[in-house]
Amino acid sequence: HAVAELRGKHVLITAGPTREPLDPVRYISNHSSGKMGFAIAEAAVNAGAEVTLVAGPVSLQTPRGCERIDVTTADDMLDACEQFARKADIFISTAAVADYKAVSVAENKIKKSDNELTLTFTKNPDILATISCKDNRPFCVGFAAESQDVEQYARQKLINKKLDMIAANDITADGLGFNSDNNALHVLWSGGDKKLPATSKSELAHQLISLITTRLNEIEKN
Ligand code: C5P
Repeated sequence: HAVAELRGKHVLITAGPTREPLDPVRYISNHSSGKMGFAIAEAAVNAGAEVTLVAGPVSLQTPRGCERIDVTTADDMLDACEQFARKADIFISTAAVADYKAVSVAENKIKKSDNELTLTFTKNPDILATISCKDNRPFCVGFAAESQDVEQYARQKLINKKLDMIAANDITADGLGFNSDNNALHVLWSGGDKKLPATSKSELAHQLISLITTRLNEIEKN
């Protein structure tokens, strides 16, 4: 491996799911092992970056050399990201943020009674879009997990969320994604794209960090 050069750069990464409480014993969440984000944190450390990893509830070891902030809800994750994004050069958002949270968290355990239960949810903040819309924002990289028209939806997200780069993955591909150790990505940016074929998440993380470094250098030159 040629080591990508990120010495002197600060990289902020979100990983894992968020968990939104319903009552003292229950929550809603997303499938997400956090493996991709943790692998990216490790690759960024190896490239010489100072790394802050904001992690939802996952059972993974903190990669050596990175600062880890544990959070539970999307609101907590946003708070942490807003704090660290100020000094970040690169923001990589791999977290599977819950799109909605309960309008109100029940103080006591919700009891079984009727056959149907209705809960009301309200939208969570879009963490990535919040950071990418700030002045002096870091280079922003999003992820797009799609089950159809992968490239088209990813291109839309690149534009709508004002991203510098997006890494799309097809969640219908066999043996890849979610809890797997392997993945494949289609990385898109304004004016270019690159397909990173199926391999280990650690190899993909290294390739993604290289692409980000190259793109950042191009932008900084102009
Ligand atoms: O819109 P969608 O959830 O598909 O966008 C995925 C990208 O946006 C990912 O990079 C994810 O981490 C980020 N995201 C976020 N906050 C949300 C929802 C998604 O940061 N509330």
